[in-house]
This record gives sequence, structure tokens and C-alpha cells, in this order.
Amino acid sequence: MAQNTAVPAQKEHKFNPNFTQAVINATGPKATPRVRQLTTSLIQHLHDYARENELTVDEWMAGLELMNEAGRMSDNKRNEGQLLCDIFGLESLVDEITYKLASSATDEPTATAILGPFWRADAPHKAMGESIVTGLPAGTGDGDRTWVHGTVTDFRTGKPVEGAVLDVWHTAPNGLYEQQDPEQPEMNLRGRFTTGKDGSYGFYCLRPVPYPIPYDGPAGKVLQALDRHPYRPAHIHFILTAPGYKPIVTQIFDRNSKYIEDDAVFAVKDSLIVDFKPFQGDPKADFELPYDFKMASYEDAEKHSIAGATEVSGAGI
Ligand code: DHB
Ligand code: FE
Repeated sequence: MAQNTAVPAQKEHKFNPNFTQAVINATGPKATPRVRQLTTSLIQHLHDYARENELTVDEWMAGLELMNEAGRMSDNKRNEGQLLCDIFGLESLVDEITYKLASSATDEPTATAILGPFWRADAPHKAMGESIVTGLPAGTGDGDRTWVHGTVTDFRTGKPVEGAVLDVWHTAPNGLYEQQDPEQPEMNLRGRFTTGKDGSYGFYCLRPVPYPIPYDGPAGKVLQALDRHPYRPAHIHFILTAPGYKPIVTQIFDRNSKYIEDDAVFAVKDSLIVDFKPFQGDPKADFELPYDFKMASYEDAEKHSIAGATEVSGAGI
């Protein structure tokens, strides 16, 4: 008992009063403190959940089958487990916990948002000013061509960040990411752009559209059982990395998009809502989207972040 984390006082119930503690006590002495903490709490919550709801074998089996099905249908193009977490708000909550900054900061780095299941490593490096549109699926129209531009600065000093890499991705007008859609060229609507001395960036893309998360698997079944829709508001994904700076995983959202107040995966934050503006004078763009990013040096991030905020492990950064 001494080496095991004490559990909160047992809730009143009619089941074996010693069972949960016995399972917790089975953890051996070589488990690390963090593993011990996470599993002790997990066991406690799982057992409380089962007792409070008087979970039956059939119900538990149904949940297990959903998880197994999610595992079976996941591969390098589909991450159904992540979708399941996302519709329950878990990725958004973990994002908030990991990156929450002290409210005393006068100015703040760009807010983070969830990675989602559609990021791909090794998006093509492009020259500043290039387009990420390399082909469009037939019959979906041209989309609204958009010039996205702004600066990347240090949130504390206001100085430009040189060598910041913006890794960008979004869906085609049919609502599909390229890896979901055999009609699109490999790495379509993805690109990586590196800032120069002035910290500025700019690239052409399309104005994104709202679309449903894949609902042909377990996540879709859960949404249906909960009487919920599968749609996300229009968004563009970014991962910003720069030497000496804490990576930022985020998304920006079109203020006028449907579902902006009703995201199926709960990822929208006010500071990430942007305005697409009609753009004249550039034959390559119908809309303009100015957006500035603010990054925190590792040193500043240390000072302002809560403990445990370390890295963007989902993206392997
Ligand atoms: C999810 C996130 C996305 O950005 C997306 O395009 C689809 C699904 C998600 O969080 O599950
Ligand atoms: Fe997305």
C-alpha cells in the first residue's frame, strides 16, 4: 500500500468494497511515478463509471467492439481512434490543458488547436508566394482562390521570427483531404513555407469549406446514437516551428462558416476566428486573409506555461 497512490475515499456503493484498491495495488514497484499516477486514476474512474451506471456485460462488450472496430479501420490514412476521442472533446481538452498560459500575460502567443487526424509528414517545401493548390477533383468547381499572408513574430519582443516553417493543410472544395480522395494529386493542398529575415509569409490556397468528419465508422455510430451532426466549420490547419521557439499546432476558422458555433470536435477558439476579405487587383486570388502568428521562445513558454506543457508529440515534433 505504501508505494501506491492513495485513492480518494470510496464512494458509497453495494459492490465489493475492496476490489478497486486491490486492482490499484497490483501495480509493481518498478512502474514510474507518472505511469502509476495515470493508471491509478484511470482504474478509479473506470470502476466508478461502471458502478455508477451499473454497466452490464453487454454494454461493456458493445463499447469494446466499437474500440476494436476503430482499431481495425485505422491505418496511415485514417485515424478512427482519434476521431472517437475528438467527438468526445478529449483532444480539445488535452490541447487546452497542455498549452494553457498564465492569464497574467499581457500579450499571448497564437492560441493552439487540435492536430486532428489528417496531418501528413513531409508536405512539400514551397517558395514563399507559391500556391498549395496542385489539382482539383473533377466537378467540384475552382473554389475561392485565397491569398493568406502575414507575419510571424516573437510574442514578447514583437521581433520577426526568421526560419519559421509554416506547415499548412486543408480540404478540397468537396470536403476531402487529399489522402481521403483518389481524385486529388498526392500532397494536394499541403505545403511548407519558411520565413526570411522579416518574418513575413504568404501563400495561395482556397477558401476552405465546412465538411463532415468521416462518419462511416465507430465515430459516426456514436454521433448518431447521441443525435449529433458530424460537421466541422471551414478551417485551415497550421503547424508552426522555428529554431528556439515552441511549436504551435493550430487551425484558423472562417467567421462566416456554418457550424462555427457548433464544431463536431469542439476545437474553435475566439482568437482563431478570421475574416476572409474580397480581394481586388490580384488575378490569382478572389479573397485575402491577413493573419499574424505570434510564437513564444522556449524560455518564455517555460515561464508562462503550466507544468507538463512540453511538445507536440502527436505530430512527432
Ligand atoms: C478532425 C479534425 C479535423 O481537422 C478534421 O478535418 C476532421 C476531423 C477531428 O478532430 O477528428
Ligand atoms: Fe481538418
